[in-house]
Amino acid sequence: MSDSNANDLMSLCKRRGFIWPSFELYGGVAGMYDYGPLGCSLRNNIVEVWRSIYKGREGFVEIDSETVNPREVFKASGHVDEFADLLTYCTKCQAPFRADHLVKDFYENADVLTAKQLEEAFVEHNIKCPDCGGDLGPVEEFNLMFKTHIGPGSARVGYLRPETAQGIFVNFPNLYRYNREKMPLGVIQTGRSYRNEIAPRQGMIRMREFNQMEVELFVDPEDKDWPRFHEIENETLDLIPNTTCEPVTMTVKEAVEKGIIANRVLAYFVYTTKQLLTTVGIDPARLRFREHLQDEMAHYAADCWDAEVLLSYGWTEIVGIADRGCWDLSRHAQFSGADLTHFKRFDEPREMEVERIRAKHKALGPAFKAKAKAIATAMESMDPSAVKDGKLIVNVDGEDIELTDEYFEVATVREKVAGERVVPHVIEPSHGLDRIFYSVLEHAYSHDEKEDYTVLRLAPAVAPIKVGVFPLMEKDGLDDMAKDIYSKVHSHRVEAYYDGSGTIGKRYARMDEVGTPWCITVDYDSLPGGAAEGTVTIRDRDTTEQKRVPVDRIAEIVDDLLAGKPFADL
Ligand code: GLY
Repeated sequence: MSDSNANDLMSLCKRRGFIWPSFELYGGVAGMYDYGPLGCSLRNNIVEVWRSIYKGREGFVEIDSETVNPREVFKASGHVDEFADLLTYCTKCQAPFRADHLVKDFYENADVLTAKQLEEAFVEHNIKCPDCGGDLGPVEEFNLMFKTHIGPGSARVGYLRPETAQGIFVNFPNLYRYNREKMPLGVIQTGRSYRNEIAPRQGMIRMREFNQMEVELFVDPEDKDWPRFHEIENETLDLIPNTTCEPVTMTVKEAVEKGIIANRVLAYFVYTTKQLLTTVGIDPARLRFREHLQDEMAHYAADCWDAEVLLSYGWTEIVGIADRGCWDLSRHAQFSGADLTHFKRFDEPREMEVERIRAKHKALGPAFKAKAKAIATAMESMDPSAVKDGKLIVNVDGEDIELTDEYFEVATVREKVAGERVVPHVIEPSHGLDRIFYSVLEHAYSHDEKEDYTVLRLAPAVAPIKVGVFPLMEKDGLDDMAKDIYSKVHSHRVEAYYDGSGTIGKRYARMDEVGTPWCITVDYDSLPGGAAEGTVTIRDRDTTEQKRVPVDRIAEIVDDLLAGKPFADL
């Protein structure tokens, strides 16, 4: 799409109520947008398609967690220490810049350069402040999280979440119980996240407050398969592996067999992402999956593929599908002290070497007399991980008794065991909802220069208005009949829009411009005694073809069209 079409699209979005720059009344704030009525519907419809796939088809569960989190959460997740961009200020006008953006024309992947390398690059390529030509200052780290305090005073530091994912990880014990302690466990969450971007550009692509649809799938680390893999294994993907960095098209099965995608479950959800994106209207010819380079991976990722779409800004990441390994649960277990493991039951009990606490009866007896037997039983039922600094605290008859290793030892024994505790791995398809929303609009936008006519070819599933309903004239009972059709369709839970003003051509144009797939018109032939009594015309947006259909079947016809029946088959 050309820059001028991208500008036209943004002005259409503003004029017709898809998105509005936030706080315009007060001059606006970069990187912030509000969703208008049509934008809200389009966005919600995209969320519903995502839900229908993950909750409906795959049986995942949905949660909604807090957006303000205490510091501990992000210390454990690594965001307090790692979630930073490199920043430089102009020494003359003080404007802040993302240092990697200033040198992006000289490097394939400027975002992997260190602060020192960036400073050297400024000198080598004679980079100056883009605003005033001044010299650039030192490059420093800038943490992207918005910091706040929870409650009065400054004792409890909190952060606005930079990803919804952590709300799922910290709820793992609740979710695991809810899932009756079984793996795999799939959880979805949609909501706002916040990143204090240094200099947001590119419209909705880099927002400071943004919407995510995140999926966290907990799996057995030794079972990275997916039961429905065979259903999609022969489907194709356009991939850019990090080994060759060359585009290649292959089946999902081949990608796993050749070791290009690390495992079957990751590959299944790469393909699921393609299904989701094409269902909501992303053009498959402008969609590819690029594997992160080793030094590009987030601090938590073991492997990561980005769904990238071609936009007026170039190829742009809109979904990341990562294998986060055991990073998240291991870190939260380490920082919180909680057990975040899964008990993996073997098919048959297995003889294995295991560590067990063994009581030293000879020392316990004289020291604890009548209690010695109860202490020995209690300590031998405990897991060796309970031993801290060579000491063990056992609870006998409500009393905590601290024991040194004078009274116990940790011994390796061979035993038949029913299973073992493992830290689940996480597969994460993380969707940037605002980016998907904008990409859907760009890929749907079509402008005929000669006719100066704009059509948004939105997929019916996500179009904010499904049906426009018009009386040819707003009189002679045509309006009553059209209003009746409008309420029938609308009350059938299909969003309809009644429009009685202006020429029919203008009304079609208004609906085409916001992506309404079908329009129904009541004319004089429709009325009692008319030449086509009891019928109305229905027009298809993309072909502009029109058909007469019986008015008493209109709700059913719209349902059929929404279910995918071709217009030509009506
Ligand atoms: N949870 C991954 C991300 O927000 O980028």
